[in-house]
Amino acid sequence: MKESEPDKKTYPIVKLGDPVLETPAEKVTEFGTPELKQFLDDMFESMYAAHGVGLAAPQIGIGRRIAVIDLSVGEDPAKKIVLLNPEIIHTEGRQSGEEGCLSLPGFRENVTRPNRVTVRAQNFEGEFFEMTGEELLARAFLHETDHLNGRLYISHVSALKRDLIRRKVRKLQKAGEW
Ligand code: NI
Repeated sequence: MKESEPDKKTYPIVKLGDPVLETPAEKVTEFGTPELKQFLDDMFESMYAAHGVGLAAPQIGIGRRIAVIDLSVGEDPAKKIVLLNPEIIHTEGRQSGEEGCLSLPGFRENVTRPNRVTVRAQNFEGEFFEMTGEELLARAFLHETDHLNGRLYISHVSALKRDLIRRKVRKLQKAGEW
């Protein structure tokens, strides 16, 4: 007999054009609850289902300051990072590289960002912690914290490129392909 699967929920990913993505999210004020635990599990599931390495709550339509990151894409449970109410408190250096976002499928742009980043956030229990990341992890901290501030990575590219992307997305929307 097959053992029953624990309750898992996968949310659809919200795409560019939905105002929730460009609205600053609200702070998390309740910690350690079963609801929060379930929501975090669902966020990881939704991220893995979409093959992402990071996901912010507004990307599943929830305007809360919650982000999850897993650079191992589900391969290593020790790599799972939960950030509640994250703030970037230190940045240094510079890196340049292609960046994409689950909310902008099919697009990738070169984005220059700091190379070493320290984030201060709260964990599931509400305890504050600091974490420093370099390269891809630094990029993930910045990208996800941007999401919680209502910013997408295209805010870091030229106005010309950004307008082009928005125009392409509008076309796709009209064609019912977005
Ligand atoms: Ni994103």
